Formats: sequence, C-alpha cells, structure tokens
Amino acid sequence: ATNQLAIAIDGPAAAGKSTVAKHVAQRLSYIYIDTGAMYRALTYKAIINKVDLENENQVSNLLENTSIDLEQTNKGQLVYLDNNEITREIRTKEVTNNVSIVAKHPLIRREMVKRQQLLAEKRAVVMDGRDIGTHVIPDAEVKIFLIASVEERAQRRHKENLEKGFESDLDQLKREIETRDKLDSEREAAPLVKAKDAVEIDTTSLSIEDVVERILQVVATK
Ligand code: CDP
Ligand code: CDP
Repeated sequence: ATNQLAIAIDGPAAAGKSTVAKHVAQRLSYIYIDTGAMYRALTYKAIINKVDLENENQVSNLLENTSIDLEQTNKGQLVYLDNNEITREIRTKEVTNNVSIVAKHPLIRREMVKRQQLLAEKRAVVMDGRDIGTHVIPDAEVKIFLIASVEERAQRRHKENLEKGFESDLDQLKREIETRDKLDSEREAAPLVKAKDAVEIDTTSLSIEDVVERILQVVATK
C-alpha cells in the first residue's frame, strides 16, 4: 500500500468540501472527518440550552461537558451529541446562521482543534473545514483550498434545498453565505485563509468528479 497521508480540505461555505472529501476518502479507503459538524453540534446544544452564544466562557463550559462523535456508515456520516444521533438537526437554518458565532471563540477553537488532532493522529484521513491546513494538520501532506463564486455556491445550496423539498430563497441564501464567509474570514482566531502550501481549485465550472480527480492527482504526486 502507499503511504498513509493526511489530506486537508478547506474553503468557504458550499464550495463542495464535504461532497468532494467523502469521494476522495472512499477512493483511498481513508476516513472522512467533517469538522464543521463538530461546531454545528455544539451550536445546536448551546441553542437548546439557551446559552448566550456570544459568551465565550459559557459556551466553553458547555463544550467541556459535551461529547461529539462522528460515525461513518454506508448511509453516510452520522453525528452524535452526548450519544444521541443529531445528524439532521445540525443542518437547520438556525444552526447554520449561528455556528460562526460559536466558532469565533478562541477557547472553543482550542478544544475543537485538540479533539480533531486526536482523530487525525493515525493519518489516512480526509478532513474538511476552515483551518485544517493552517491549524489542525499544519503538516498535512496534501492541502486543498476549494473556492467557487458566491453565485454558484448559493445555486448549489438552493438546488439541494429544492431536491429535499425545503423552502429556498436564492437571494437570501446568497446573503447568508456571504455573511458566514465574512465572519469566518475576519475572525481573530484561525480565520478562513488559504495555507501557503495549499493547492487552490476553483470549482465554479467543475463537476464533482473533476474536482475529485484533480485532488487524486495531487495525492499521486506524494
Ligand atoms: O458545509 P458548510 O460550508 O455550510 O459549513 P460547515 O463546514 O459545516 O461549517 C460550519 C461552520 O463551522 C463554518 O461556517 C465555520 O464558522 C465553522 N467551522 C470552523 O470555524 N472551522 C472548521 N474547521 C470547520 C467549521
Ligand atoms: O462542504 P461544503 O459546504 O463546502 O459544500 P458541499 O455541501 O459539499 O457541496 C455543496 C453542493 O455543491 C452539493 O450539493 C454538491 O453536490 C454540489 N457540487 C459540488 O460539491 N462540487 C461541484 N464541483 C459541483 C457541485
């Protein structure tokens, strides 16, 4: 077998990170780790517990008493919060529009990065998020930074919503994506930024298969 690598995939909302990461992991028989799901799970719990999301210490105390687990199944990734399955609950609009507040706190990031580093310890992982190549696995053998125009990204989410039978407003989606990108890029602690040694792929006019192939080409050079 070839070397067991760590593959870091970062980029803004709806650039295709999780979709592409899952495919790459499958092709290489690696584990896929969705770090956004961890921030979403904590946000979900904080909302339910009526914790003030801006209060770093309160959210941090909550996280100390919280277990978040990701399980890979043939039906996709399942997310567990304190041993209860909450895979669907973390994708609501309310969680999506509040997660960047929780994720901006340095104490939260420090603990999440620690947990994520344990998951990546043995390599053979594809991990996606915002700070994987810069902070979580700074020595990852492969770093990918996925981008796409905000119009294209809003369209992708819109299409997903309609396919699932959800209500969806394209202009509103676009504004929500822009707001989240801005919060994620402008925060002090580990902002969304391309690592110096990351390969940037603009996916605006690429298919999922195209992007997967490009990443596998980068992997093949390692
Ligand atoms: O899939 P989508 O791009 O909508 O978001 P996600 O990957 O599930 O991440 C949700 C949010 O979690 C992001 O907007 C960030 O605020 C935060 N996040 C982060 O700060 N660092 C990570 N490594 C992953 C997610
Ligand atoms: O994880 P992230 O938020 O970056 O994006 P995603 O949830 O993986 O992907 C958003 C949507 O874009 C999904 O419905 C994909 O099928 C679609 N898509 C893609 O991921 N890559 C392309 N090159 C084209 C479409």
